Amino acid sequence: MAAEFEGVTVVDHPLVQHKLTIMRDAETSTRGFRQLLRETAALICYEATRDLPLETVAIRTPLAPMQAKKIAGKKLVFASILRAGNGLLEGMLDLVPSARVAHIGMYRDPKTLQPVEYYFKAPEDLSERTVIAVDPMLATANSAVAAINLLKSRGAKDVRFVCLLAAPEGIRRFRAAHPDVPVFTAAIDSHLDDHGYIVPGLGDAGDRMYGTK
Ligand code: URA
Repeated sequence: MAAEFEGVTVVDHPLVQHKLTIMRDAETSTRGFRQLLRETAALICYEATRDLPLETVAIRTPLAPMQAKKIAGKKLVFASILRAGNGLLEGMLDLVPSARVAHIGMYRDPKTLQPVEYYFKAPEDLSERTVIAVDPMLATANSAVAAINLLKSRGAKDVRFVCLLAAPEGIRRFRAAHPDVPVFTAAIDSHLDDHGYIVPGLGDAGDRMYGTK
């Protein structure tokens, strides 16, 4: 794993980098993109959950009793920033099927690039759970910052952020607003263009995964 920015983990595993390259390719189909995003999400989730605390429980194998390890505490919450967050969510749930799910409805006003909130639904006891917010593209970070503000205002204390691609501008803004929230990404790209798109990036993640363009 490479670390270029404090608090940011770049998951540079060969499988992640290979899948990311195919997702970046403009020739990749909607179906292929969606499947690869799901697979990559599981691999990034693996790193984002690496330090979860364990507890020891008594079990009995077919051969003998033993003390074995389980993840301690309440179930995780995955908070999907709609709509593109759902593409990552599926892969995260493949890895942690018992996780609870929050949905944050937020879109980017194309003129101001500011986030507009239209929906929020989350488990009540966010303060007692590890919350992993997901959105594939950390571009301007406006939506991500607003989503974490919302989660924190509802009590979330242990929050992480998982994305697929990040821009340096987005990382700086996100970490300035939420220095306590670690970021996990597959790559940090060059810069944002005038429309707030990540360059070289992969285009609009929502459109790529749902075939809406
Ligand atoms: N959102 C996207 O889907 N792509 C970008 O490059 C930036 C924001």
